[in-house]
Amino acid sequence: MTLLTILEFPDPRLRTKAVPVSRFDPALARLAKDMLETMYAAPGIGLAASQVDQHIQMLVLDVSEEKNAPMVIINPRIIASEGRETCQEGCLSVPGIFADVERAERIRIEAQDLDGKTFELDADGLLAVCIQHEMDHLAGKLFVDYLSPLKRDMVRKKLEKQRRHADSTLTASA
Ligand code: NI
Repeated sequence: MTLLTILEFPDPRLRTKAVPVSRFDPALARLAKDMLETMYAAPGIGLAASQVDQHIQMLVLDVSEEKNAPMVIINPRIIASEGRETCQEGCLSVPGIFADVERAERIRIEAQDLDGKTFELDADGLLAVCIQHEMDHLAGKLFVDYLSPLKRDMVRKKLEKQRRHADSTLTASA
């Protein structure tokens, strides 16, 4: 089991635009498996490759309550969307911060699986929110971008403070 390091806001690497996946090889399958393990361990319900510093269009998620329905979505494209809904979101790259974000209520995506096979998926509810959140990551966008500049700055300062505290704890116990 390999746990990958998750980049945290405001790391500039999170702003990288992911490129489409063109090689559906064992290395891709291994990355997907490591991403799922990292996501479950965090714990989280979704993770984009961008968050583990791999700038390719792949995301993993599992919105089931039993945590037994892993999904791997590659080169996703939204081909239809409908309605608007506001949901409170969090992000593994912005730990401890939650904020309301408005997104499409229902979406249909076209994407590829680990074998390169194209499929379509209709999503609503938490699944639709999660896919849109992760697709934003692939475009170099974070959910805090939907907040006002003032609120975003407060988030950045709060995270810096959390990190400083974590560092000093580490030093004290070393
Ligand atoms: Ni996120």
